[in-house]
Amino acid sequence: MRSYFIAGNWKMNMTVEESVSFIRNLHEAIVNMADFPLSQTEVVVFPPFTSLYAVKGLSNIIRIGAQNISYGDQGAFTGEVSPLMLKGLAEYVIVGHSERRELFRETDEDINKKLKTALRHGFTPVFCIGESLAEREGGATFRKLETQLERGLAGLSPDDISRLVMAYEPVWAIGTGVNASPEQAQEVHIFIRDFLKNKISHPETMKIIYGGSVKPENTCELLKKNDINGALIGNSSLKVDLFSGIIQLSVSLVR
Ligand code: PGA
Repeated sequence: MRSYFIAGNWKMNMTVEESVSFIRNLHEAIVNMADFPLSQTEVVVFPPFTSLYAVKGLSNIIRIGAQNISYGDQGAFTGEVSPLMLKGLAEYVIVGHSERRELFRETDEDINKKLKTALRHGFTPVFCIGESLAEREGGATFRKLETQLERGLAGLSPDDISRLVMAYEPVWAIGTGVNASPEQAQEVHIFIRDFLKNKISHPETMKIIYGGSVKPENTCELLKKNDINGALIGNSSLKVDLFSGIIQLSVSLVR
């Protein structure tokens, strides 16, 4: 039987008050889905750091993650948020999002350090990789993804790798309204799973989720693909009706 991991990345949106009311309303919406299968649908929301404390404990269904993590535990890292500060506030952390890579110049080496730190402190990283439009058009998609995988996962044990959630997020699909086609996404997800065959013993159980302009209209066709185990959602996670609509659709697919 299938299960899905549905995650909302709020990015730099939502005040504390907005976050609290969103989580309350989303919780209500999920509770009202009479057939919501807790064991087969994992819902995770990534609010901004400033809202994490306020949303703590508001829902026993919605899990909470942080959008970033420092690779240092403490000390002179102005503006950074350490794993020690996130303990008890977040279970998941996004690592390697293309906005962090592009706008904040995070390298594969930084991302590798963040993955190690997050794992060492017991968080579940959602490790994002993806190619740019130029790379896709230039036929360099798989080379780029392989590099990001090799460098990002360098030095991680098979156990560590098994604990990750992998997210394929083509940069050209993020925030553009143009999603990867289900076939394009499936092709990459198979590639990622094949890559993991050399690293872990059960790549078939690895959660590999897709992100990039996921909305209610394209959710089903994406999630129906065999190797797509869920979605990482930006814009459509900012409205309770859209996000809960996507959750409802994923529920309908596991029934
Ligand atoms: P989007 O963002 O759904 O707005 O394309 C996805 C993401 O950045 O994770």
